[in-house]
Amino acid sequence: MEILLVCAQALWFILPALAPSSGAVLVGGGAPIDSGRKMKDGNRILGNGKTWRGLFGGTLVGILLGVILNSIALYIMDSPEWAFSESWGTALFILFLLAFGSMMGDLIGSFIKRRMGKKKGEKFPVLDQYDFLIGTSLFIIPFQSAWFLANYIDGLHIFGLIFILILIPLLHRVTNIAGFKMGKKEVPW
Ligand code: CTP
Ligand code: MG
Repeated sequence: MEILLVCAQALWFILPALAPSSGAVLVGGGAPIDSGRKMKDGNRILGNGKTWRGLFGGTLVGILLGVILNSIALYIMDSPEWAFSESWGTALFILFLLAFGSMMGDLIGSFIKRRMGKKKGEKFPVLDQYDFLIGTSLFIIPFQSAWFLANYIDGLHIFGLIFILILIPLLHRVTNIAGFKMGKKEVPW
């Protein structure tokens, strides 16, 4: 029972990092971050799929979702253990790290794809699914190590981490097919 709760919590806390890439698909477009520039290898730095609107819109979507989750935990469920933090200042900081880190991971992923000569939207297994988590980790581990350890490493929480690592590729598949069917994504991955 305890382990189910730990897994549910691990998923709950990662939602503000999971949402931004879907948010970027919905609100993205317009000027690309790399302004069309190429690197010496002849490929774009990031490509047309990485826009300013997507970066900021996606980050905002993740933070807003987190604000909703934190409010539910504090005011509806009355369970502080489901809150990112009982202090709204700390909660907003954690949410920023989760959401912005996620979008940074997405940029790192595209940067690596372009350096490997892969076109926008071309499949790159593992990196496509986990890039956001790499970005989130790069932000959350240095700045909120205690929060990270308490929720994803200590005791049974390590099973929560394993659970989301297994769930992510499945969720990725489902959301991308949805985005494709809505006509928001050119490819179903
Ligand atoms: N998007 C955006 N800005 C971002 C991230 C995403 O505008 N910073 C939008 C773009 O319209 C993009 C779509 O979300 O095409 C899907 O994102 P993603 O799958 O990450 O990009 P791809 O187009 O597949 O490009 P890449 O090969 O670089 O991953
Ligand atoms: Mg892609």
